[in-house]
Amino acid sequence: MKHNYPTPLVVGNWKMNGLLALTTALVQALVVFTSKNKSHCCEVVICPPATMVYPAAELLRNSIVALGGQDCHPKAQGAYTGDISPLMLKELNCRYVIVGHSERRQYHNENNDLVRQKAESAINAGLIPIICIGESEEERQAGHFLSAVMTQLAESIPTNSTPENTVIAYEPVWAIGTGKVPVPHEIAEVHLALTNHLPNRFRLLYGGSVKPANTQEILSIPYVDGLLVGGCSLNVDDFLHIIQSASIEVQSLINPTNT
Ligand code: PGA
Repeated sequence: MKHNYPTPLVVGNWKMNGLLALTTALVQALVVFTSKNKSHCCEVVICPPATMVYPAAELLRNSIVALGGQDCHPKAQGAYTGDISPLMLKELNCRYVIVGHSERRQYHNENNDLVRQKAESAINAGLIPIICIGESEEERQAGHFLSAVMTQLAESIPTNSTPENTVIAYEPVWAIGTGKVPVPHEIAEVHLALTNHLPNRFRLLYGGSVKPANTQEILSIPYVDGLLVGGCSLNVDDFLHIIQSASIEVQSLINPTNT
């Protein structure tokens, strides 16, 4: 069952970082690395800030690296100053869009209802939403993290979601940007509960302080199908290491005797 998604999906979330020079350097390095390792590379997505989506799309032409937005508006167009519609991302060759990241939930007061509308509208535009859910530190300590995550899941996932058009990312809020990572059995517990709760086998990512040193261990946890990487996706060496580690499983499937 673990191998329903044999190719891990590694998503880099740049957040509000990246001017043109950094974007060019990072994307060029990714293009070179992934084209050299094309036959056994995991799936890679980068989500730069909105202003860098177009330059990144140009640099990624003919590359296996996919592009994603960090957020979108639930409407396709209209008088919503400062917002970006899923159609705009789609036009720039984005395949994915992150919705409901805990930083959007926290700093922009986004609730499950809005996240669900965004995800639904992203799917309607032909994008794959990466729907983020995850408990707070208080919820973890109080012991009701599973019910908190399941409520977020139930309320954030739209009715038009299928395993083909939607990805779910479990990101415990207390692990994001803190260097604190849940121990493997804690991640396993939530990913198993998510899998049991969902009607089909959706692709499930883990996110929160992922780094080269913990990539393989996290990816070996049942029902962890990929990673959402923040800080380390901005460092070329770290991100390439993470991609390399995530690709080991792909190599072992192509040539089982090599591992
Ligand atoms: P981090 O961020 O890897 O810096 O913890 C993850 C995220 O916010 O998606």
